[in-house]
Amino acid sequence: MSGLNLFLADEAAMVAFGGQLARVTGGRGIIFLEGDLGAGKTTLSRGLIRGLGHTGAVKSPTFTVVEPYEIGDVRAFHFDLYRLVDPEELEFMGIRDYFEDDPLCLFEWPQKGAGVLPKPDLTITISPQASGRSLVLSPQGARGDAWCVALAEYYKQQAG
Ligand SMILES: Nc1ncnc2c1ncn2[C@@H]1O[C@H](COP(=O)(O)OP(=O)(O)O)[C@@H](O)[C@H]1O
Ligand SMILES: [Mg+2]
Repeated sequence: MSGLNLFLADEAAMVAFGGQLARVTGGRGIIFLEGDLGAGKTTLSRGLIRGLGHTGAVKSPTFTVVEPYEIGDVRAFHFDLYRLVDPEELEFMGIRDYFEDDPLCLFEWPQKGAGVLPKPDLTITISPQASGRSLVLSPQGARGDAWCVALAEYYKQQAG
């Protein structure tokens, strides 16, 4: 599987896609979310974290850099690196500790952590269209590939 392209017509479709990502990842792995301000990265993250079973609010971590979630046995970390000045700040945060035991790690603005962040399982690039959003899913490795296969299967059934 080389990847997957999806068109999501509205916010509800974006949240639902997050729910599908929750299902296929099982709450483990590293996902980079790329796209400009307002693309829908936080909306997608909210769908994913809710899909993992979180029932409370999902705040944008723009000011806190990271918001942690514990949902039963699942742990998730939602990062927003927008305000990072230097990728080295991630070293000072002890970024490596966050990846221990393979939780789900979501990164908005991963470019700001270049050189310090590990390779993701999946990169999702979101582009606003006249109406709705187009998404390009680029897996990097076997795990991301398997997610894309499962998502393609789901969206094929949806369309058919
Ligand atoms: N698939 C979609 N189609 C249309 N609008 C969307 C879609 N997904 C999200 N949005 C809207 O786009 C905006 C995205 O905001 P947000 O998720 O905070 O973006 P980001 O985190 O990328 O800056 C929200 O107003 C949301 O309602
Ligand atoms: Mg955001």
